[in-house]
Amino acid sequence: MDFITANLSSVHKKNEFCCEKELLDNYLYKQANQDIKRKLSACFVLADNNSNLIKGYYTLSNSSIPSILIPEEVKKQLPNSYTSIPTTLLGRLAIDKNFKGNGIGKILLVDALKRCYEISKTIGSFAVIVDPLDKEAQTFYAKYGFIKLPDSGKMFLPMKTIQQLFEK
Ligand SMILES: CC(C)(COP(=O)(O)OP(=O)(O)OC[C@H]1O[C@@H](n2cnc3c(N)ncnc32)[C@H](O)[C@@H]1OP(=O)(O)O)[C@@H](O)C(=O)NCCC(=O)NCCS
Repeated sequence: MDFITANLSSVHKKNEFCCEKELLDNYLYKQANQDIKRKLSACFVLADNNSNLIKGYYTLSNSSIPSILIPEEVKKQLPNSYTSIPTTLLGRLAIDKNFKGNGIGKILLVDALKRCYEISKTIGSFAVIVDPLDKEAQTFYAKYGFIKLPDSGKMFLPMKTIQQLFEK
């Protein structure tokens, strides 16, 4: 599969990125490289080939969620022995303010889901989890089928659903 993003590296001008959400900007400036070194998350960027300015980025990590959080209709497909369900966390997704509203958020989300699906072929992952920052982000993810997990701000999309996107 082809991806439109690349791993964050020293060529990328991360300090010029601004998505207008301080938490997500500071993450890129101060923490992303540390997390990569510590193997806590991988960070993928869509950047301009000439200027190396970052148009958007996202992060992925292995994660798990307690099976009690999974809605009953989905849980029916799972064996009772699993108290914790393996998932992939799309921890952050942000687009630079100069590029918002041009479909890049959607393109990066699809790119991230594609990577998650590829990973799930070698390391089991039942769903992709997101942790939206606010109501707006929730609305964005809901648009693409993410379902709210009860008693948690998190949302999920089953890997089976993602599989249908990429395998016809
Ligand atoms: C949310 C965000 C990623 C969307 O990126 P974008 O490139 O502006 O979005 P797109 O142009 O690809 O829009 C895709 C669709 O989502 C909708 N959308 C865009 N921003 C949205 C928002 N903030 N809230 C709800 N829906 C939104 C668009 O209307 C569009 O729908 P359409 O295809 O029916 O027209 C971007 O605004 C951003 O970086 N926000 C700050 C960080 C953030 O909140 N990240 C998300 C969770 S941590």
